[in-house]
Amino acid sequence: MNVSSLTEFVFREFSSSRTVHLFLLALVSPLYATVLVGNLLIMMTVWSDPKLFQCPMYLFLANLSLLDMALGSVAAPKLLIDLLNSGRTISYGGCMAQILSFHLSGAAEMLLLTVMAYDRYMAICHPLRYTTIMNRQRCLSLLILCWAGGLIHAVFQTVVTAQLPLCGPNVLDTFFCDITQLKKLACSDIYVSEILFIFSDNVIILPCFLTLLISYATILATLCGRFGKGGRKGLSTCGSHLTVVFLFYGPIVFVYTNPSSNSQVDKMASVFYMVVTPALNPLIYTLRNKEVKGAMGRLKSKCKHFLLLQLE
Ligand SMILES: *[C@@H]1O[C@H](CO)[C@@H](O)[C@H](O)[C@H]1NC(C)=O
Repeated sequence: MNVSSLTEFVFREFSSSRTVHLFLLALVSPLYATVLVGNLLIMMTVWSDPKLFQCPMYLFLANLSLLDMALGSVAAPKLLIDLLNSGRTISYGGCMAQILSFHLSGAAEMLLLTVMAYDRYMAICHPLRYTTIMNRQRCLSLLILCWAGGLIHAVFQTVVTAQLPLCGPNVLDTFFCDITQLKKLACSDIYVSEILFIFSDNVIILPCFLTLLISYATILATLCGRFGKGGRKGLSTCGSHLTVVFLFYGPIVFVYTNPSSNSQVDKMASVFYMVVTPALNPLIYTLRNKEVKGAMGRLKSKCKHFLLLQLE
């Protein structure tokens, strides 16, 4: 068999038991619904509130919600359809599309979380210069940087993946096209591809991780020296940012440092970062943030008012 003969892949079943399928269906469908509804609600709240829409932090938050919707949509819809009608194949093109969209939304989200940390760092450690530095122009360029960086990374990963010398069998032990699993189907030496993958992963992961670490360490050090209401409020905002960062990096660190590479455990980790994290982000921000909660209440009464006008 050669490369051209692999026109589709088959995902190995989670389990042959119908009960397990139903359980997964019952777990993933509400999570995916939360991803869509929760993140859409956050975006609508930010867009509908002039005060929030002025503020870089909330524009970043709305962009984060968009990325969460994209990240959540990489695997969940296909997984749900597969669970419903027991089909498990994906075409070669579909597989590459999943790799591209996963790496685009994942890398862009990683960059955005870093930008958000930098934004908090400027707001808390340099409050006087903050408004001049984080103007609309700067905000927009940082966002373009995130999206462009994600796109370059994703295209690079997809091109390297497409060059892999894949042989049969075409069975992937996962529920979405994942480079780690595809590499196992390679029939010859993939030394150069491995180096390219490691390079393009770490060009994003390492600088982002270091910047995050330094920003939050500086913020915490600054806030710890500050007492009173301002300090507490900053601490609580950073609390939700840090929770999101941990939820995002946790599974990545886990998968990369897990030497035993147990595919069952890897699968659970992927379910986590493909559906659970994107569903939790909006909850974390809305439950902890007074401004978002207030704006959501105003959006609700606006909607009620609108509906009442329609009825009259
Ligand atoms: C992302 O941020 C930009 C402002 O920098 C904003 O114009 C755009 O609407 C945001 N995207 C979303 C989905 O809210």
